[in-house]
Amino acid sequence: MSCTNAICTLNDRHSIPGEVFFKAGHGGLTTVCVNNRYASTEILLHGAHVMSYTPHGEKPVLWMSGSSYFQPDKPVRGGIPVCWPWFGGHPSDKSKPGHGFARIADWQVAEVDSQPNGTLVTLRLTEKDIPANLREFPFEISLEVLVGSELHVSLSIVNTGKEKMSFSAALHTYFNISDIASVAVEGLDGCKYLDTMDHIFKVQKGIIAFEAETDRIYLNTPATCIIDDPGFCRRIKIAKRGSNSTVVWNPWIEKSKRMPDFGDEEYHTMLCIETTNAENDARVIVPAEKHILKTIIGLEKRSEDKK
Ligand code: BG6
Repeated sequence: MSCTNAICTLNDRHSIPGEVFFKAGHGGLTTVCVNNRYASTEILLHGAHVMSYTPHGEKPVLWMSGSSYFQPDKPVRGGIPVCWPWFGGHPSDKSKPGHGFARIADWQVAEVDSQPNGTLVTLRLTEKDIPANLREFPFEISLEVLVGSELHVSLSIVNTGKEKMSFSAALHTYFNISDIASVAVEGLDGCKYLDTMDHIFKVQKGIIAFEAETDRIYLNTPATCIIDDPGFCRRIKIAKRGSNSTVVWNPWIEKSKRMPDFGDEEYHTMLCIETTNAENDARVIVPAEKHILKTIIGLEKRSEDKK
């Protein structure tokens, strides 16, 4: 039977029976659904947005807001927004979308493959896929998502132009936690950070605990972070490659109320640990050069819970 719509064509070309299919998901957005022997995951073509990663028998690892927009012109709140080619506001034109255009662009499916260690979904975006007013230089970026016993998310950025290309970036991951008041983040002890609450550089002492709005860019750090979550009896391990900065964010009470796509009380159960190229870790690549920004997310049992 010949296909008469985009979802049918994608299923025709890329579905894998019993493992991967495409559907019209929230807001009608095209969604890649993966369910293999390790985990289930949903990825939107809108923004190449990984919405969920749930290893079988576990609670969801990624957090999604119940108030998120699912609209072609708006970013999704939760999961893993891909922030590129700028992190935060545009360096010179504040009318351009926050955190870049990649998270609101319509990505193409490049490949779907069943591999021994999981399911690999590769999405692609070039300057031809974005509105003319946002095109600043030619590029090809790909997001490879490997859904296995860990979640590997790899953003590869190729300069296909003739000039140097400058960018900042983030895999802006929202984690699902039991309670912001009882989790701790390990891995950044001794690390210098820019506290964007008061714009003062500080040094981390010990673990990070949360008792107020937190918005920090940790600098010069390739370190793996751990979210220790006693309430969920687990530790989320976040390793990375191609990144020398890490953002830690929780909006707390007042900012939660100001964000229209974020529930007033949702800050209790989310925490962003973002694998970034931010601040002094922004990158410049020459023509034909490639940069890869990667995050590797896995679960560990807490040692006092191992019995
Ligand atoms: C974080 C920033 O990375 O993203 C915060 O450090 C910001 O300052 C947050 O509020 C969310 O940004 P947005 O554009 O998705 O609301």
